[in-house]
Formats: sequence, C-alpha cells, structure tokens
Amino acid sequence: MTIAPDERPDLEAPRDEASTQRRGADLFEEIEGARGAVRHELDAEIALELRDLSVFYGHFMALDSVSFDVPKQEVTALIGPSGCGKSTLLRCFNRMNDLIPTARMEGSIMFDGQDLLGPAVDSVGIRRRIGMVFQKPNPFPKSIFANVAFGPKINGYKGDMPALVEESLRRAALWDEVKDDLDKSALALSGGQQQRLCIARAIAVQPEIILMDEPASALDPVATLKIEDLMRELAEDYTIIVVTHNMQQAARVSSYTAFLLAGEERTGRLVEFGPTQEIFTNPTDRRTEDYITGRYG
Ligand SMILES: Nc1ncnc2c1ncn2[C@@H]1O[C@H](COP(=O)(O)OP(=O)(O)OP(=O)(O)O)[C@@H](O)[C@H]1O
Ligand SMILES: [Mg+2]
Repeated sequence: MTIAPDERPDLEAPRDEASTQRRGADLFEEIEGARGAVRHELDAEIALELRDLSVFYGHFMALDSVSFDVPKQEVTALIGPSGCGKSTLLRCFNRMNDLIPTARMEGSIMFDGQDLLGPAVDSVGIRRRIGMVFQKPNPFPKSIFANVAFGPKINGYKGDMPALVEESLRRAALWDEVKDDLDKSALALSGGQQQRLCIARAIAVQPEIILMDEPASALDPVATLKIEDLMRELAEDYTIIVVTHNMQQAARVSSYTAFLLAGEERTGRLVEFGPTQEIFTNPTDRRTEDYITGRYG
C-alpha cells in the first residue's frame, strides 16, 4: 500500500530545505552567547582519533563504527537522545568501560601516538591524563583541601601541595568561595560548589583531557551558567568532551559537536560531527536538524 503524500506522517513529509535550515539558524542565534563560543579552527590539532569504534555489552552492540577526530583544546559536545550511547562513548576515552565486565570495544582511539584500546595500555595511567567529572557531584567525605589534594598525593606529587590546591580551586572558579573553609567538609558545599570542587579535583592531577557527563544537569540555572563559563575557560588549556541534553548549553559552550542516534535495534551511530555552528545552522543530515529543534525525545 502506498501512502498519499498528504497522508504521510509529519517526519516523512517533504520538507522545504531552506526553511529547515533557517529554523536551526534562528535557534542558534537566539541562544545568548552562542556565537562567542564558536571558533573556526579547521586545522585544529587532534587530541583523540576515533576509528570504527564499536562497543558491545555482551551480545548487544551499543555503538557501531564511530569515527571522528576530537580537536585539542576545544570543547566538543556529544549530543543525542537518551540511550544513543553518549556515556558509553565517553567511558571509552578513559577506559571506564573496563569496569563493566560485559563491555567490549573494537576499533581504535589514538591518543598521543598510542591506541587507548590497546592491551598494553595502563588504564590507571590513562585516567590520570584523561580525567572525568560525573553528572552527580561526588566529592569524598573529606575536607575541601583533602578532596583536591587526593589525586596528586596518590600520584606522589612532591611539589607545594597548598599552592597546587589553591591553583586548582582558582581554575575551577571556587577559590574565593572556599578559601577560608579549606578544612571544612566538602559535603557541606552546595551542589554547584561540589561540582566545581570535582572539577578542581580533576584539574589537580594536571590531565590533558577532561570528560564531563552531563556535569550541570543536577544544578540550578545559576550554578549551570558557572559551570558553562568554566568549561569555556578550561578549554584554553584542556581538551573538554561534554555530554549534554541541553541544546542551548551545547551551542554556548562547544566549538564542535558530535550527534549520535540509535536505530530501532538500539545501536548508536554517529550521524554527524562538525563545528557546532554548522551542526546547528546547516546540518548535512535531516535527523540532526530534527533533534536540535526538538523533534526527538
Ligand atoms: N552496563 C551496561 N550493560 C548493558 N547495557 C548497557 C550498559 N550501559 C549502557 N547500556 C545500554 O547501552 C545503550 C547506551 O547507553 P548509554 O548510557 O551510553 O546512553 P546515553 O546516551 O548516555 O543515555 P542517557 O542520555 O540516558 O544518559 C543503552 O541501550 C543502554 O541500555
Ligand atoms: Mg548517559
């Protein structure tokens, strides 16, 4: 049976390409601060090179052959509907999937001349160079100082610890709020402060890449803006990869965006990757436009 064009469901309806692109462009323009976040450095250095990366949980293929380059010292956003594999992808970058017994990875992720997925890779050493900040702030039940000093101490840091703690807290835009309370419990801080403390803790070990899985989704709008400002500042020195469900946030903080989507069999695939401005204003795939303008969940 064929369906007459005017009876087709909306998603299948022929679309006026020009107006479709316009909607994405309008959306992008309406997002305050979006323009400032975008830099067009097409010759950007590469921090991570993903080639045909697939991830399985047992027999289930969660990600299928994902390939793109993560630019150095930029914010790259991973976007896509729930269950498309964003966290799965993020966890590949510092071998966190190793902690899931059923998880298996294929393909390669080149980082500084080595394949992160290679058998010889020391996952603890990698996590030192590629840090992670989680959705829910998870400070240790210790003092503010001890939280930041924890990683460097374990790594045998021999330098001036108070100076390193101060520097890390400054970089995480938290120092002024906590400088007189360094001995107080980290658990007494607000959620937004706890998340910045977790960022300070990640910075303290002087990583090259910081992974963030929805770092602001549990925070109020003011704390969220602070984290967004911080991400942009940190990208001066670090490569940041952030998972977000918030399109405004992706537009404000990221220079590059990867859009993932899962098919009916729930396997996630990369739909497109590119400069955030292009992904928002002139996507090459209609599904990207549909997601960005809110047509998927
Ligand atoms: N430990 C696991 N064992 C088995 N399947 C898993 C595991 N973790 C995730 N999955 C499955 O892999 C797919 C991708 O999950 P993932 O958590 O990466 O998605 P996501 O894009 O981060 O979603 P959300 O936006 O909801 O956080 C989903 O189908 C999920 O059910
Ligand atoms: Mg997730």
